[in-house]
Amino acid sequence: MGARGFFICVEGLDGCGKTTQTKLLVRRLRRKRYDAIYTAEPSRGKIGKFIKRHCLHGEKRVSSIIEALLFAADRFEHVEDVIVPAIGKGKIVVSDRYVYSSLAYQGAAGLDLEWIEKVNEHAIHPDLAFFIDVKPEIVVKRLKPKKSVMENLQTQQKVREVYMKFVENGELVKIDGNGSVQEVAESILKAALKGFGKAV
Ligand code: TMP
Repeated sequence: MGARGFFICVEGLDGCGKTTQTKLLVRRLRRKRYDAIYTAEPSRGKIGKFIKRHCLHGEKRVSSIIEALLFAADRFEHVEDVIVPAIGKGKIVVSDRYVYSSLAYQGAAGLDLEWIEKVNEHAIHPDLAFFIDVKPEIVVKRLKPKKSVMENLQTQQKVREVYMKFVENGELVKIDGNGSVQEVAESILKAALKGFGKAV
C-alpha cells in the first residue's frame, strides 16, 4: 500500500464465521506481503472492555440507546487510538465489526438509523466493507440459545434485513458465507484484492 493504508471492515450475524474469516484475510494478505493488522469491535480499549464485561451477557442488559452510545464511544477510541494511526503508517487495517454492527444490531432493536449514524459521525468511512451472508436459520443453530430459538431467529432476521439495506445501497459488499471456510476465505481475498485495484 502507499503512504496511506487501507481500511476494511467485516460484518455479519453472530455465528457466521466472521472472526475466523477476518483473521484468515489478515493472514492471507500478510502472505502476499501486505502489512495487514487484525482489530475488532468491541475494542480492547477501556470502553470496549466495559462493554464486554457489562453489556454482552446476562439477563440485565442495558437499554439499546445506552448500548448504541457505548459502542459509539468505544468506536471513537478505536478509530483514534488504533485505526487512524495504523492507516497513517500505510497498514491495511481489517476490523472484525465496525459501524455497520451498530446500525444492524441497534437498528434491529428499534433505534432510528439516522440517529445511529449521527452519534457515529466521528467514525471514518471504511475503504471496503464486507457482509458475510449466512442464513439466520443456520446461525441460530450454531449459537447457544440465549432465549428461545424463535426469538433468536426473529432477532437475527431483523439484523440481516438492516445489513441487506446497506448491501443494496452499495456500502457493503455481500460475500456468500455458505461455502467451506476455504471457499469463503478465497471469495473475501479476491474481493479485497479487487478493492485494492489489483484484481487477481
Ligand atoms: P462479537 O461476537 O463479534 O465479538 O460481537 C459481540 C456482540 O456485540 C455481537 O452480538 C454484536 C454486538 N454489537 C452490537 O450490537 N453493536 C456494535 O456496534 C458492535 C460493534 C457489536
